[in-house]
Amino acid sequence: MCGIVGYIGTKQAYPILIKGLRRLEYRGYDSAGIALLHNDNLNVYKAKGKVSDLVQFAEQKDIEGTIGIAHTRWATHGEPNQVNAHPHFSQSEELAIIHNGIIENYAVLKEGLKKHGYTFSSDTDTEVLIQLIEFIKKSNKVDLTTAVQLALNQVVGAYAIAVIEKGQPDLIVAARKGSPLVVGIGEDEYFLASDATPIIEYTNKVVYIGEEEIVTLERGKGLKIRTIGNVEKTPEVMQLEMTLSQLEKGGYPHFMIKEINEQPKTLSDSMRGRVNIDENNITLAGFIDNKEKFLKAKRIIITACGTSWHAGLIGKYAIEEFARIPVEVEYSSEFRYRKPVINPDDIVIAISQSGETADTLAAVELAKSKGAFIFGICNVVGSSIPRNTHSGCYTHAGPEIGVASTKAFTAQVTVLTMLALIIGKEKGTISQEDYLKIVYELARIPEKIKEILKQDKVIAEFSKTFTYAQNFIYLGRGYNFPVALEGALKLKEISYIHAEGYPAAEMKHGPIALISQEMPVVVIAPSVGMYEKVVSNIQEIKARKGKIISIVTEGDVVVSNLSDYSIFIPDTVECLVPLLAAIPLQLLAYHIAVVKGCDVDQPRNLAKSVTVE
Ligand code: G6P
Repeated sequence: MCGIVGYIGTKQAYPILIKGLRRLEYRGYDSAGIALLHNDNLNVYKAKGKVSDLVQFAEQKDIEGTIGIAHTRWATHGEPNQVNAHPHFSQSEELAIIHNGIIENYAVLKEGLKKHGYTFSSDTDTEVLIQLIEFIKKSNKVDLTTAVQLALNQVVGAYAIAVIEKGQPDLIVAARKGSPLVVGIGEDEYFLASDATPIIEYTNKVVYIGEEEIVTLERGKGLKIRTIGNVEKTPEVMQLEMTLSQLEKGGYPHFMIKEINEQPKTLSDSMRGRVNIDENNITLAGFIDNKEKFLKAKRIIITACGTSWHAGLIGKYAIEEFARIPVEVEYSSEFRYRKPVINPDDIVIAISQSGETADTLAAVELAKSKGAFIFGICNVVGSSIPRNTHSGCYTHAGPEIGVASTKAFTAQVTVLTMLALIIGKEKGTISQEDYLKIVYELARIPEKIKEILKQDKVIAEFSKTFTYAQNFIYLGRGYNFPVALEGALKLKEISYIHAEGYPAAEMKHGPIALISQEMPVVVIAPSVGMYEKVVSNIQEIKARKGKIISIVTEGDVVVSNLSDYSIFIPDTVECLVPLLAAIPLQLLAYHIAVVKGCDVDQPRNLAKSVTVE
């Protein structure tokens, strides 16, 4: 995690860097810092806490300079205090570095440097790296770029770094391995950042820096890229398609609620050019290009983390139902470290909003090395996972800023559903009648979500009742079991209330012991699927005086009469209920967190893009 940003050009760097940090704050917000070169000074300012704390701290200081680097931190090594905040100085204070990632062999490197008289003021792995760069630079008498290159050859781990040097006001040296880095090219200026959001305001010309590449941003000169193995590379300039308004709150109090409300549009965007409403047909370029592989696949392995893993579970239900291909859904962090059986005729689908999650990226690499065909379902265009897969589909949900994933989840489920349907159609494992019906229904989901969003005030009102709760249970069956998991995760993430998602029928194998009149139980009970069985589960909760919040289909009376509160969703086919049922659960978590006064967009200890394992 951590966000890095840099600027060199004709403008004042400070405001650009601060704005960039605010855009990247979703990546971590334990501390923030900035380094600016002005006259002959290398000024470094750091503060524990958020970017606003840094701004307060730096306000009265010398913040002049047209070159600088800045960092917002999600702590890995060392407490999140001011000392451990980035940028870090080298011993002589001539060099300053920002770093996103982990230097795994930092302890060995540190011991070696200590023998040469280096001392350390922080507990971070990053300080070790900048000391190593300085040591190499001085002892080998080489320039900064070469020193960075030689140092990185000794490093084991992941990094996106940027380094500046006192007395070198025309140069930033940056490099990456495992952590993202993008360079923006403006008029007589360069930007660098962990993603394109700090850059879009100034230029739409970017270069995504590749694995183990070092880039030099030099005033008045073209970009130079070479690998740490010293191979020269030609920068590949790309056009950004993102717009600035996508990165702003647009009148909403939080990004999360903005993103929840965007879902009618984002799902239409996910389907645009793919679902043909006139012909009730689906086209997915990623599938068409690799049709034979999908048709021959003996097995699909889905790998993902967090919310994306929940989307993967829904994908499993859909692919197995319509395409009749066995699907396994794996946490990337487990998959990459056990010895999974992966065959060349397996398809591995990696799902990731950010496209940067370290464990998912590593799972992709592992599967690739075993010869499997890798298909990515990602949201951030140009991110690492889509660049490392054989093919894939973007979810097109637009930038998701709120740390708790909402619109990316429903977009992932939409893409997986389209994929399941199209494979099924081509294989003949779904009837034409069912196919047409589901495609017809899928195209109507955005309108149905608009109906659900109208209940926002009702949900906000009854959410107040539940702020007392210490625990929640979420229940669902079939396609809605993963939705229960996702609903529970949303609540945990942003309101800090402990919540468990369970398959409804499993309740009697344990969680039923927890039910009392204190325990809110959220039950997803649409009229399709195993409705009667869920009704029996609700009776069991009622008998033990649990508080029932149900998600039911419009017109339902049985479950709503048994419930303390009900949220109504429009009718649809069973496989599409998750796209509707997820919405009230997002709203419920959001409103409970707001009433509790929690920081909804930046919940404690979390980060949106987990680029460390
Ligand atoms: C973090 C985020 C989650 C996300 C997960 C996987 O934990 O807070 O919202 O689901 O990472 O991220 P990815 O970008 O791979 O979907």
